[in-house]
Amino acid sequence: MSIESIHLTAGGVSVLLDVRGGILPSVAHWGAALGDLSAADARAIVLSGVPPQAGNTVDEPVRVAVLPEQRTGWLGRPGLSGSRDGRAWSPWFRVVDLRVTEGEPNEVDALLALSGGGAITLTANDDTAELELQVDLHLSPAGVLRAAATLTNLGAPYRLEELSLALPVPARARETLDFAGRWGKERTPQRGELRVGTHLREGRRGRTGADAATLLTVGEPGFGFARGEVWGVHVGFSGNHRHYAERLSTGEQVVGGGELLLPGELILATGESYRTPWLFGVYGDGLDDQAGRLHRHLRARPQHPRRPRPVTLNVWEAVYFDHHLDRLVALAERAAAIGVERFVLDDGWFRHRRDDHAGLGDWYIDETVWPHGLTPLIERVRALGMEFGLWFEPEMVNVDSDLARAHPEWITQTGGRLPVESRHQQVLNLGVPEAYAHIRDRMVDILGNNDIAYIKWDHNRDLVDAGTAPGGEPGVHAQTLATYRLMDELKQRFPGLEIESCSSGGARVDLGVIERTDRVWVSDCIDPLERQEMHRWTQQLLPPELLGAHIASGRSHTTHREHDLGFRAATALIGHLGIEWDLGQATEAELSSLAEWIAFHRERRGLLHSGELVRMDDVDPTLWVSGVVAPDRSRALFSLAFLGRSTEGPLGRITLRGLDPDRRYRVRPLSLGDPAGGYRVPPWFAGVEGASAGPAGTDGVTPLSRALRSEEVEGVVLSGRALATAGFAAPLSYPDRVWLLDVTAV
Ligand code: DGJ
Repeated sequence: MSIESIHLTAGGVSVLLDVRGGILPSVAHWGAALGDLSAADARAIVLSGVPPQAGNTVDEPVRVAVLPEQRTGWLGRPGLSGSRDGRAWSPWFRVVDLRVTEGEPNEVDALLALSGGGAITLTANDDTAELELQVDLHLSPAGVLRAAATLTNLGAPYRLEELSLALPVPARARETLDFAGRWGKERTPQRGELRVGTHLREGRRGRTGADAATLLTVGEPGFGFARGEVWGVHVGFSGNHRHYAERLSTGEQVVGGGELLLPGELILATGESYRTPWLFGVYGDGLDDQAGRLHRHLRARPQHPRRPRPVTLNVWEAVYFDHHLDRLVALAERAAAIGVERFVLDDGWFRHRRDDHAGLGDWYIDETVWPHGLTPLIERVRALGMEFGLWFEPEMVNVDSDLARAHPEWITQTGGRLPVESRHQQVLNLGVPEAYAHIRDRMVDILGNNDIAYIKWDHNRDLVDAGTAPGGEPGVHAQTLATYRLMDELKQRFPGLEIESCSSGGARVDLGVIERTDRVWVSDCIDPLERQEMHRWTQQLLPPELLGAHIASGRSHTTHREHDLGFRAATALIGHLGIEWDLGQATEAELSSLAEWIAFHRERRGLLHSGELVRMDDVDPTLWVSGVVAPDRSRALFSLAFLGRSTEGPLGRITLRGLDPDRRYRVRPLSLGDPAGGYRVPPWFAGVEGASAGPAGTDGVTPLSRALRSEEVEGVVLSGRALATAGFAAPLSYPDRVWLLDVTAV
């Protein structure tokens, strides 16, 4: 009997594919796990989903394939756009081969079942169109679905415009969530109603973009962190890309995406293939479930950073381009003394780079600034017990550089002119093999001759008019793949080398780049009020250990707001902690407070970087409650972030989710570094028996919160069930404060 359906199930998710009739598979169900299915169950689910015929539509039910084909009568976006001189633009692919490429298949009659995750590869062709298609579908043990397609041209040259994959979502998903943003304010959520038509998010920046959709999710109206089913897609690619959600007047709706190809960018020669980036499909029963599934998926990768994330000091906001050995050594000494484990030298160390007008591309240590090379600094950093990291921007070039003077043709360009400058720089065309080899060799030379454990890999402009001289053909696709190749090659040559993906802050945050890098720089804006939001939402894609989260100086360099050290530190605490501050300007009190925060982070990072993220749906928009719960639910750390002044106060009871309902936990407020500086704390802070917060002093601070500055407090013991349901009274706090709660099973 031939296979009619395939059931992939893992991590609380099922994907049921309809593969009847030898045509491209369509997804009959993608969502919550369906449990064990018999062949008859699977057939019933598939057949009961066939809709009645809508008026004035094609005479057969439309089966929307993972690569939607117009020939079926599907009138949404087709998966393949392209032609061979106006022909072969609407193919009909027939499946000729189906292989299980990962997992243990259990074949029962007409059903092929893969539980615990697995992968299949389908090959299909259209002899008339002279095209072959391969579709790879993979469900990871965590329940994250990945799909990619490979198109091979078997005829005369084929001009490919788009190859995108799509996944159906049920009609009850009518609200969208994706991300916008700009420099210094990356990944700002935006919501909308999914209406008939296409909600299309295109990234044409030649990089992921501060405003990338990141995860385009549709869900049940009103979905939140803990409520409502959601289905999201993410294109794992750092070049031009597209995400979309589409609803048709016939009721079908899909989410999909792929690479965005520029005109004429891909003309496939005979026998040539193009493979799409992975399209990730992430289901969740609420946004926390969706994020948790992605976090588990990423943490299971062999290359996921496993050793404790070294606390990092980056010198950018401390010195900018003003590099002096003595000053940097003094900074390193102060950093080491407070517990920093990695010291990163940012932009400005190479030839001609005295400001941002010149030097990019000249990857030689500047002899005028570093007469003895970087060795004296690196040796001191290493002697202090820290790793050394160095900044590069390999894909860029200043016109005012030796490199551009020697090879103006290596600058991406089209139309016989140079693109408009951005940050006074141009893009170096790594699609040109000689340019690629030159940059690789310079980086290999610097990395090979210096003790460097980490690269901060920057990318500070959009790709505009990014073509290849002399003809000017579009080169974003080739550039993106060359960057990946370069990262892969360096990682291979220098085992253990870690790379940070930075791009004008957080403009290159995606699952393509994270395959070959070890963390992202979330944003150039380190203002904790802004970072609260950026961390909250960047975590929708990445676990906290991959988020570069630094404690900056009191006055933010990007917003000019001033914040207490406690708020700055508690905001950075959960991510990959670092410092971005001229410690020479810090007071003794600030340094000792920083040391305390770093020690606390180092003690807790095992939990913070392996636990499950919990974000409570707001009791009030000014109070964000979130936390990390250990996998065995024995402990957790929660943060109560007061981000404004509510019209009401106090805010009543708040709850904590994610704990074991049947265990009892002591919930204890923590006082760290600078004072908790509370306003009015609830009596339970001191234990429920006979506690009294006492009257406020003239500074508005109660005696109990003063006591919190130095003493251990008892807190309250409640079951996980009580914490999730009844909860406890929230403090009344000044705004721009974080209260940390230690939650430990007793
Ligand atoms: C942009 C980055 O985001 C900053 O952190 C810094 O590295 C500068 N570039 C250096 O030019």
